[in-house]
Amino acid sequence: MLMTSIAALFPGPVVVEASTLLPDAELFADECAFVQAAVPKRRAEFASARVLARKALAALGAPLVSLVPAPDRSPVWPLGYTGSISHCSDYCAVVVARSRDIRSLGLDVEDKRELDPAMQDLVLTRAERQWLESQLPVLRPVLPILIFSAKEAYYKCQYPITGGFLDFQDVELAIEWASGTFEARVLKTGWPAAVARLSGRFVVDPDRVGCGVALMPD
Ligand SMILES: CC(C)(COP(=O)(O)OP(=O)(O)OC[C@H]1O[C@@H](n2cnc3c(N)ncnc32)[C@H](O)[C@@H]1OP(=O)(O)O)[C@@H](O)C(=O)NCCC(=O)NCCS
Repeated sequence: MLMTSIAALFPGPVVVEASTLLPDAELFADECAFVQAAVPKRRAEFASARVLARKALAALGAPLVSLVPAPDRSPVWPLGYTGSISHCSDYCAVVVARSRDIRSLGLDVEDKRELDPAMQDLVLTRAERQWLESQLPVLRPVLPILIFSAKEAYYKCQYPITGGFLDFQDVELAIEWASGTFEARVLKTGWPAAVARLSGRFVVDPDRVGCGVALMPD
């Protein structure tokens, strides 16, 4: 997926870096320790994300720092910056921005594939299923993975604000295929208003599906 296509998923000034996995990516000692026990694929995606994130942050003038995740595994960005990370089979993408331009970012990239029926049951709400059935047959195979990806992007964007967990059934998507946009709406009551409804953009290329959500400053 082109880096320019990923950058276009966001409404404000962002820097995107993306690449196939970088097996020899160099890490800080504390980052190495964090993934020491992980399988090689996980180490490669973690390391790739750190190298790409440092490159993107440097383009914004941020200091060169270690990027060890928080205990809940969410990313920790240098003060004054925000970002989001996604990996899929052999690919990793990172988006970063200055916090004064964008409050929070959510990026998700998935391999373009049909979502198996059990996953569809987990991910899609009843309304989303009905909407799916009304769509053109040629589009239908890609829409479940697109909804999955949009929910993941929404989740990553809202998490730094709420620190809260959401199930796939807690979020409902309204997708507008022609404009490449969607709106994610939280169905459960009491969710913080700032993130209870956020809009996002998507891109579909021959290999991957990408979704981006941004929360702008007040
Ligand atoms: C966090 C989560 C969304 C990641 O999505 P994924 O498709 O499995 O994996 P991706 O490769 O796209 O993203 C991984 C990156 O997400 C980031 N991430 C992890 N937890 C995060 C959180 N709570 N908030 C924001 N970003 C998070 C990390 O940077 C991670 O990369 P890293 O481990 O190299 O640092 C997923 O693992 C998860 O915890 N889901 C539970 C909640 C959920 O999915 N609800 C349904 C949607 S509403």
